[in-house]
Amino acid sequence: MPAPDKSPQGVGPRRVDPADRAQLAESPVPMYRVAELMNGQYLRLLVLLAVITATALIGVANPFLLKAVIDDALPHDNDRLLVGAVVGMIGLAVIGAVAGVWQTWLANLIGQAVMHDLRVKVFANVQRQSMNFFKHTKTGEIQSRLVNDIAGLQTVFTSTATSIATNFTTAVAKAVAMVALDWRLSVVSMIILPPAFWVTRKVALLRRDITAERQRLLAQMNTEVVESMGVNGALLTKTLGIAEERAERFSRASQDLVGLDLRTQLAGRWRMGVMSVLFAAMPAIIYLAAGLGPSGMTLGTVVAFTTLQTQIFRPVMGLLNIGVDWVASLALMSRVFGYLDLVPEVAEPSEPIYLDPKQARGEVRFTKVGYRYPDAETNVLTDINLVVSPGRSLGIVGATGSGKSTLASMISRLCDPITGEITIDGIDLRRIASTNLAELVGVVSQETWLGHDTLRNNLLMAKPDASDEELWRVLRVARMDQVVTELPEGLDTMVGARGHRFSGGERQRVAVARTLLRNPRILVLDEATSALDSGTERDVQAALDELVTGRTTITIAHRLSAIRHADEIIVMVHGRIVERGDHQQLMAVGGIYRELVDAGSRDVVRRQSHQ
Ligand SMILES: Nc1ncnc2c1ncn2[C@@H]1O[C@H](COP(=O)(O)OP(=O)(O)OP(=O)(O)O)[C@@H](O)[C@H]1O
Ligand SMILES: [Mg+2]
Repeated sequence: MPAPDKSPQGVGPRRVDPADRAQLAESPVPMYRVAELMNGQYLRLLVLLAVITATALIGVANPFLLKAVIDDALPHDNDRLLVGAVVGMIGLAVIGAVAGVWQTWLANLIGQAVMHDLRVKVFANVQRQSMNFFKHTKTGEIQSRLVNDIAGLQTVFTSTATSIATNFTTAVAKAVAMVALDWRLSVVSMIILPPAFWVTRKVALLRRDITAERQRLLAQMNTEVVESMGVNGALLTKTLGIAEERAERFSRASQDLVGLDLRTQLAGRWRMGVMSVLFAAMPAIIYLAAGLGPSGMTLGTVVAFTTLQTQIFRPVMGLLNIGVDWVASLALMSRVFGYLDLVPEVAEPSEPIYLDPKQARGEVRFTKVGYRYPDAETNVLTDINLVVSPGRSLGIVGATGSGKSTLASMISRLCDPITGEITIDGIDLRRIASTNLAELVGVVSQETWLGHDTLRNNLLMAKPDASDEELWRVLRVARMDQVVTELPEGLDTMVGARGHRFSGGERQRVAVARTLLRNPRILVLDEATSALDSGTERDVQAALDELVTGRTTITIAHRLSAIRHADEIIVMVHGRIVERGDHQQLMAVGGIYRELVDAGSRDVVRRQSHQ
């Protein structure tokens, strides 16, 4: 849950978030990196600082005009001075307001420029990460952290930084003006202001803590309600017979809340009370000091001074949050830099070798390949040696978890071997640029992802310049043309998460069509038909048969019928190849493969006898 009190503006006191402190302890932010962010913005920054200073100075002029009105214009009936001072007061207010707008505009300009740059860089770098990174990070976490942290950082640049600068310049300007008006009153002020700041902050922090506690309790109670009133919760309550106990617990939580609610209200009231006493007492003490002190102090001086003293309160209170703001801002930067510094597990080659997809032969070779997932104990693949000659097919079978998908995914370089090498036409995959590899290797798996867009655009992802004729041709080959013709808007139908829902088999045929458009030399089919019923499977299989002709194909299948005709079949156990040969040979050997085939046909017999 984002802390509700992280708004960097305003004078409300804040406390340092322990999570922020921990973040900084773990990965501190060097100042030169912060400075680097501002590259190209220095001129704007300078102007911004000038505007902020000017605004602070303008704000100081008002009490002096007030003094002139009270001491000279009013008692001596000096109309010219009066009009001049009044025009000055109004004029300065207008200038101040305009300068404020300008300041906001500049600050946002800087903040947006910095953020745009950072956002794009972070996006690109996160995208470069390997599949392992995405698998090991909770769905939604990357997205929300990226969005929230970058938005937070933008606030740092547009609001926090400017409010610190504004508060600082304003406080200094007011302080200087106070001394200029009367140094003796300033000394008095110096004595009464610090305790006033201290008390104000103390009371406000107290109230903040109580409010936070109340929010925590409220959230807890909500969870309780959601849990026990949901279907599962209700079922559990009834079957376990714990209704009374739950009601009891709820009653206790509710009772706690009653007490806290009262304290929250009272704390708010107390805070207001303390503030009003302070704001009454501070000028009063100045009147007293002015009266008891040396004579000759003018009325205007006293009024102007108390005005300044009241006005200095807000910026100084704001400045008292500098420490907290500083830690919170640096922690945000530290997190964002963390994304920028992520080193991709699968790195792009610095000097890629280009394999022309039109000329590539499409030979895939694994030499002594071993792989282990980053935080796994044992290898998923050990000593894999394979050659799939151009245009030939390889079938992979093996128990679940034996490493088939891992092996297949390595051909599109979702991860790199730890030992050995994988080559296409003799070139190590690590020397081929990812965009080039994507042209060479096509993957159709159980999971076909369709973006929330029109069907046409989803297909065009594979080949942006394809004509409609081409699209229809591949749809025909993939046995999907009929289905698409019957869609309400044909190729313009929205598909994906919130669009038209294709069935599993239809989605897979779209994937086949998409792969046909790309026309890769090498094809990886990972369980492409295993989730389908047998009727749909026949359709998809027919589409796949069209797809594989003339390409180097690596097929993983639980249904042995899909790989029976492969030129070579390998059987995997615990990440090792234990049998290899074509169907005939493996049947003759009488090992695991034969067992699988026999078990499969028994299943088929059983299935048929059930119908
Ligand atoms: N990202 C990952 N991080 C850690 N371990 C993983 C990861 N992906 C897979 N594994 C493990 O590696 C082993 C091989 O997984 P893989 O998906 O290659 O098996 P498979 O043969 O394709 O199985 P199935 O037939 O169920 O698809 C499994 O033990 C799996 O738990
Ligand atoms: Mg698999």
